[in-house]
Amino acid sequence: MSLSFFRTALALPLATIALAGLPLLTPGQYPRGRKINIAHRGASAYAPEHTLAAYRLAIEQGADYVEPDLQMTKDGVLVCLHDATLERTTNVRTVYPDRGRMETIGREARSVWPVADFTLEEIKRLDAGSWFGPQFAGERVLTFQEMIDAVRGQAGIYPEIKHPARYAALGLDLPRALLDSLKKNGLDRPGADPRTPVIIQSFEADSLRRLRRLGCRLPLVFLVDDEAPGDWISPAGMRRIRRFADGVSPSKRIVAQTPEMVRWARAAGLSVTLYTFKSSATGDFPDVEAEMRHFLYERDVDAVFTNNPDRFPRQPRPE
Ligand code: G3P
Ligand code: CA
Repeated sequence: MSLSFFRTALALPLATIALAGLPLLTPGQYPRGRKINIAHRGASAYAPEHTLAAYRLAIEQGADYVEPDLQMTKDGVLVCLHDATLERTTNVRTVYPDRGRMETIGREARSVWPVADFTLEEIKRLDAGSWFGPQFAGERVLTFQEMIDAVRGQAGIYPEIKHPARYAALGLDLPRALLDSLKKNGLDRPGADPRTPVIIQSFEADSLRRLRRLGCRLPLVFLVDDEAPGDWISPAGMRRIRRFADGVSPSKRIVAQTPEMVRWARAAGLSVTLYTFKSSATGDFPDVEAEMRHFLYERDVDAVFTNNPDRFPRQPRPE
């Protein structure tokens, strides 16, 4: 089936519902009856995460949404990076050998190169592709604006604001920068561009609450990890999440251990989006497609973040 079919299939229901004046998205934020394929850091199983190559491939592979994790540079520019430091996914050690800082975690000390220590101009000198494979040499760290320009009209955008509290301590306002950027691009309202819906995610409840206070009307999704306090994963916890978010996004381990949480979330009016599905770690499942199929159609979650958007199962297993 062609890629244009999937793009049209995603866009048309959204546009139709919006034109009819009905609630745009349901439950929480997704078109009813459609399972959603979110490219985690782009098609990051096949190309270096958060690069143009990874985002373009995600679109080619039929992703409904592309996920950028967002950090901030010293001069306040949003950039697409998962880590708060540059050394894992760029050649910063080579280009700026004297600018590492010592960080101690537990008993281990190591040098790190925080994103917030560098201006955008400095970060743009880095190679963000060679670590993944020589064929990706020359890929650059992307700004959020460059990501929007690459994806707009072809898929939705699912930004995660990383460590907003840590950036606030440095005088950098990541949530406000995100809203300003979305506004500048005319993407700050649900339905503003039916071909490019936007959903914002965060592990920080307070940051989502703040986005609402800043006037954000876009769907918000609360990420819950394995270390989060257990009382979120309860009927009452889901109702508390519903006060500041439209959806909940637990790790797949949480749903494996507590499958009834999907029902609790639905009862509270939340959608359920699981992370993260990757061909390199499929647990007891034979492959990543089988694993996604299980959670989407047997556990009935709405959406998944995956490094392998090409393996997303659009249908339940045929009888
Ligand atoms: O945002 C969903 C998932 O990406 C959360 O994990 O660490 O990959 O951002 P992480
Ligand atoms: Ca993420």
